[in-house]
Amino acid sequence: MHQASAEDLPLAEASLDVVHARWAYFFGPGCEPGLDELERVLRPGGTSFIIDNDPTTSTFGGWFRRGFPDVDPVAVEHFWTERGWSRERLGIRWDFENRDDFEAVVRIELPTATAEEVLVEHPDATGVDYAINLWWRTFG
Ligand SMILES: C[S@@+](CC[C@H](N)C(=O)[O-])C[C@H]1O[C@@H](n2cnc3c(N)ncnc32)[C@H](O)[C@@H]1O
Repeated sequence: MHQASAEDLPLAEASLDVVHARWAYFFGPGCEPGLDELERVLRPGGTSFIIDNDPTTSTFGGWFRRGFPDVDPVAVEHFWTERGWSRERLGIRWDFENRDDFEAVVRIELPTATAEEVLVEHPDATGVDYAINLWWRTFG
């Protein structure tokens, strides 16, 4: 296992067939150095898969937009499509065994004020519907 920054991977050029990143690039603009590095380490014909939030829909997406009003989901989508990435929209859920676990994760994922509002508004919830984008691109 290697531990490194996305902008400086300890891997040779054109050494990988597949790259997968999960919840690492959800703000789009500003991620260019990491994506350049990703392209450097992929072999010609290699494919990259990136999973991130789709805040345009779902209950959690609404919470995310409230918590991060400066993130423009449409600008993020343009960021990917302009660079030749394709998208598969996926609907998922978080479901927890108990309320304490649900509350703990809501408090990790959202700014404090938003998390507390959401928990008051959903007093019995132990799960939530969640939308994600699977972005993928095969590099030439
Ligand atoms: C939302 S977490 C997702 C973690 C994990 N990929 C997952 O799906 O559970 C984002 C992670 O990206 C890491 N991160 C942020 N900027 C980074 C960078 N420039 N290079 C490498 N990792 C970075 C953070 O430390 C954090 O662990």
